[in-house]
Amino acid sequence: MTYKVAFSFADGKTLFCNVNNNELLLDAALRSGITLPMDCREGVCATCQGQCESGQYTQDYVDDEALSAADLAQRKMLSCQTRVKSDAAFYFDFDSSLCDNTGPKVFQGTVSHVERVSEGTAIVRLALDEAAGALDYLPGQYARLQIPGTGVSRSYSFANAPGGHSLEFLIRLLPSGAMSDYVRDRCQVGDVIPFEAPLGTFYLRHVDRPLTLVAGGTGLSAFLGMLEQMAAQGGCGQPVHLYYGVRTPQDLCEVARIEAFSGQIPGFQFIPVISEREAVWEGHRGYIVDHLDARALSEVPSDVYVCGPPPMVESIKDWLQAQALPAVRLYFEKFADSGA
Ligand code: FES
Repeated sequence: MTYKVAFSFADGKTLFCNVNNNELLLDAALRSGITLPMDCREGVCATCQGQCESGQYTQDYVDDEALSAADLAQRKMLSCQTRVKSDAAFYFDFDSSLCDNTGPKVFQGTVSHVERVSEGTAIVRLALDEAAGALDYLPGQYARLQIPGTGVSRSYSFANAPGGHSLEFLIRLLPSGAMSDYVRDRCQVGDVIPFEAPLGTFYLRHVDRPLTLVAGGTGLSAFLGMLEQMAAQGGCGQPVHLYYGVRTPQDLCEVARIEAFSGQIPGFQFIPVISEREAVWEGHRGYIVDHLDARALSEVPSDVYVCGPPPMVESIKDWLQAQALPAVRLYFEKFADSGA
């Protein structure tokens, strides 16, 4: 039996390797060209330490000089002593350049579908070529897509779960911009798009608390991948609330797909929020912070994931700070609409 393990780093890169049953994590990493820093290999020096973000594992020996009881409670671990018992993800607080001998990760995909899914949003689906068939990523991460015929690249979160032979991206269509112009005017089935992946430290961690997911605009993309993975696993054992804020009802997209998660993820609730005052809309209005439940978040320690434009992310951060919710773990990703 082998397990799939993701190693993510402070520079936002993620490397993957397969780990055999009962194999030490450090050995598996080295075998795959991921030269994690190490020294003693005996659980004493802590040079190889990281933190488990998701999955099950055991450790053979951990000297209390290397990791304290508090460290262990935070799922800090020593790679030279760790054996994984499931697929897992680990974080290391240094740049991947320190240990990445696996070569550049540039793939190619062929456009298999392009569709306008709201007034200002398109979905582009890429079929992976043979090399990219080996592409691994964590739901929530992103790829840098090269716009055909230009030397320009733009970053987009994966809008589907990993493991298939195609990738989906939600593309916001700006009035003008390199990717917007390409998708609106020239994108055709059969176009080849090179891309670099996987990138980013915004991804779904081990779920052991209620989840509040907050999407602004095409920030929804990252959550579609996370939710698709949870659905494939029959849920996550915790309540999941998805808040999705856009300006007008016409800006909402993938609503049927999101609503279908209610039948696939026990405890899933979807709360779309419309900000334009004059919009014809029966549901929640205003900004997402107007609808977050401070009492619920204070009663049960929760994980809050936010993905959207910088002002929205800042407003959620400010709100959480003002509510004084120390037990909330916040993960966020800001993206700017760099229209150029
Ligand atoms: S290399 Fe020293 S604790 Fe792992």
